[in-house]
Amino acid sequence: GVDFSRSVVVVIDVLRATSVITYALANGAKALWPVSTTDEAFELRNKLLAQGLSPNTIILGGERNADIISGFDLGNSPQAYTHERVGGRTVVLTTTNGTLALGNAHGARHLLSASLLNAQVVSQRTIQLAQAEDLSIVLLCSGNYGQPTLEDSLCAAVMARDIEFMLGADNVCYLSDHAIGTRMMAEAYTPNSVEWFRMARHYNKLISKGYGTDVQVCLQQANTLGVVPIRCANGYLV
Ligand code: MLT
Repeated sequence: GVDFSRSVVVVIDVLRATSVITYALANGAKALWPVSTTDEAFELRNKLLAQGLSPNTIILGGERNADIISGFDLGNSPQAYTHERVGGRTVVLTTTNGTLALGNAHGARHLLSASLLNAQVVSQRTIQLAQAEDLSIVLLCSGNYGQPTLEDSLCAAVMARDIEFMLGADNVCYLSDHAIGTRMMAEAYTPNSVEWFRMARHYNKLISKGYGTDVQVCLQQANTLGVVPIRCANGYLV
């Protein structure tokens, strides 16, 4: 119900949807379609096949309850989206919270996604887009089943801090109260703060389900990928 028509919206789902998006596009996926439901994913694949794409150029990816969906090619582990697997292919992704948040932000003037893996380059691009058309910036944390999550808040915090810093003293940046509070997290954060996550709910769920490597990849490789996922005129992320 929020009007995003004058906003650059950056959707964040560190564990793990937007980390997967970052990996897939960094590894050469030519298009990434975020969809909300598994039915939509299968329907979109059929539509793309009808448009002439060959079956081996379409990858269905995502999760329900953190695990791969029956009939899908890949789950929701970022490092599975290798160049060999997704390079030059179209990825259709559905996840419990992250792709839902992307769908909810469809009215955005510009729609991007960010994770800790690419937060800095996305911040730079977000500023350019906002300044070019005098738009507001919305850092939209996907959270988990409607609840905020520590990792998404941390990514937003780092981005709010970086955006304010990159704008510099000559540009006034009005942060919302929530953004000010969140940014304080970034000030307190050090590489050792990865310990914070031992209390976090979705982190613990992923660990208990055997996805410890994913968690490490998503949380400990900050700003290692230079890709900026952005919705193009055709509706998918590139
Ligand atoms: C989500 O979108 O809810 C997450 O990516 C869930 C997950 O970690 O698999």
